[in-house]
Amino acid sequence: MSQDVIEALRRAEKMRIEFVANVSHELRTPMTSIKGYAETLLQDFEEGRAIDPDFLKIILKNSNRLIALINDLLDLSAIESGADQINLCDLDILEISKHVVSNLHHHAKSKDMEIVLDCRTNLVKADPKRLEQVMTNLIDNAIKYCPPKSVVNVEWSKVDDEVILKVIDHGPGIPEKYLDRLFERFYRVDKGRSRETGGTGLGLAIVKHIMQRHGGTAFVESKIGVGTAFICKFPV
Ligand SMILES: Nc1ncnc2c1ncn2[C@@H]1O[C@H](COP(=O)(O)OP(=O)(O)O)[C@@H](O)[C@H]1O
Ligand SMILES: [Mg+2]
Repeated sequence: MSQDVIEALRRAEKMRIEFVANVSHELRTPMTSIKGYAETLLQDFEEGRAIDPDFLKIILKNSNRLIALINDLLDLSAIESGADQINLCDLDILEISKHVVSNLHHHAKSKDMEIVLDCRTNLVKADPKRLEQVMTNLIDNAIKYCPPKSVVNVEWSKVDDEVILKVIDHGPGIPEKYLDRLFERFYRVDKGRSRETGGTGLGLAIVKHIMQRHGGTAFVESKIGVGTAFICKFPV
């Protein structure tokens, strides 16, 4: 075996070990909380004390986190392994974008934010379910990580032989040193903030793998104090 192949295998093995460690850690935090609160509730019940419904709410919230995490992990593995077929269709950009924006309407409204759609091209060749997922992940992040009352711009255009989706926000921006790693699994700039808002840290990894399966690319540009743009390019 050549030195390059050995080096690549070593890197893959290191990534696998890190991934297992990361998943275990991500699962342990909500599980520990569920166990702790269930024990407290049981003790209260056995000793005749009133049961605090807030504890039940915490158990429910952490159970939902576990489910979201496992769903994202299964999804990522299906996309990555190729087990899930990509079903390329000519999609009507305006129609699918309106559908995604209307699904996120409540989330945007809860922060008094506006999503502005600008479609300068009509069609994209993509898997409908996967495109919806890419747009949802990116717009959802823009809403989550930006201040209330700000605007999110969703722009579609065609340049040469690529159809380009841009999700542009006017939030705090992301420091340059983090940009390289943003699409890695479980990578978050602010772990506490991400967990608090129900994030799994897998959204951008899923976006990247979906774009790769389409023969396209996903990348980010950001400027502190100005905002962030996530850009996805689909081959025509
Ligand atoms: N529009 C954005 N503005 C600022 N930070 C962002 C934005 N989108 C993503 N991020 C950062 O990238 C991290 C990874 O995003 P993602 O993979 O979707 O995970 P999650 O949203 O579950 O935390 C987020 O935790 C956040 O720190
Ligand atoms: Mg996200």
